[in-house]
Amino acid sequence: MSTDKRFAEIPVEAVKNFWNRCPCNLRHSPAPVGTKEYFEEVAKRKFFVEPHLVDFADFPSVKGKKVLEIGCGLGTTAVRFAMAGAAKVTAVDISEQSLELAKQHAAVYGVSDRMEFFLANAEELSKHIPLDHYDVIFSFGVIHHTPHPDKIIQELKHFLKRNGKIKIMVYSRYCWKTLWVLFKHGKLKFWNLSKLLAAHSEAQIGCPVTYTYSRSSGRKLLESHGFKVDRVHVDHIFPYKIAEYVQYKYVKIWYFRWMPRRLFRWLETKFGWHLCIEASR
Ligand SMILES: C[S@@+](CC[C@H](N)C(=O)[O-])C[C@H]1O[C@@H](n2cnc3c(N)ncnc32)[C@H](O)[C@@H]1O
Repeated sequence: MSTDKRFAEIPVEAVKNFWNRCPCNLRHSPAPVGTKEYFEEVAKRKFFVEPHLVDFADFPSVKGKKVLEIGCGLGTTAVRFAMAGAAKVTAVDISEQSLELAKQHAAVYGVSDRMEFFLANAEELSKHIPLDHYDVIFSFGVIHHTPHPDKIIQELKHFLKRNGKIKIMVYSRYCWKTLWVLFKHGKLKFWNLSKLLAAHSEAQIGCPVTYTYSRSSGRKLLESHGFKVDRVHVDHIFPYKIAEYVQYKYVKIWYFRWMPRRLFRWLETKFGWHLCIEASR
């Protein structure tokens, strides 16, 4: 894990306030927020720029199962678990604004009856949500944003069924994005890396907490709480120019434009920003 101890001292309120000010992917669509058109475009854009998420979530596999999602944001994956036929989806987030939109998302797609929503700091999950045992616990891009990621993993032990599966994505430390942030924002001051990565990890600048993990520290995060890690892999490089991307245009940076697709995929699987971990008990 990145060694910046400062993150552990940041109050979780600061995390909550950040995500309340700018719920994740809020500007993924120019349509009126809360409409079906809005949520459709948010999902389309998310799955277009993060196509590996669709494989990782493996929506059809949850049919008839109970799913717990930690840090659901706008509910883009939680709602799709429900749409794929999950028996029950429990969606948790620390941000009221995000959770409110996730509830609207579920209502718009007519899956509210199979979903429940909890406003909670997942570091204290068992204080806030009724104890239940889930087949799948899913969390995408969340656990590295909390001041004490270990506490969340510790909590998950109470909620996973004996043969259940955990799927989490945290940010990778040794990746293309790290290099890009160092070049673009850090003037190669690698000793400031943790601070720089936190500031520039999200579309909106100034995220208070962003830990990053090597493959082995990601594995340790789960193993130190008694989980068995089944698979660790990295994926995802964002190849588009930001100025155009925020205008809903997808223009690749010149070196990605000429790069053969196979080379790009190779780079993503070696130096991707998303460290995906699958574990069981
Ligand atoms: C980068 S967003 C990802 C949202 C969603 N998983 C997605 O892929 O769109 C991180 C989310 O984690 C939530 N979060 C951060 N720390 C949390 C905590 N301790 N407990 C619950 N949710 C948390 C934030 O409110 C935010 O919605």
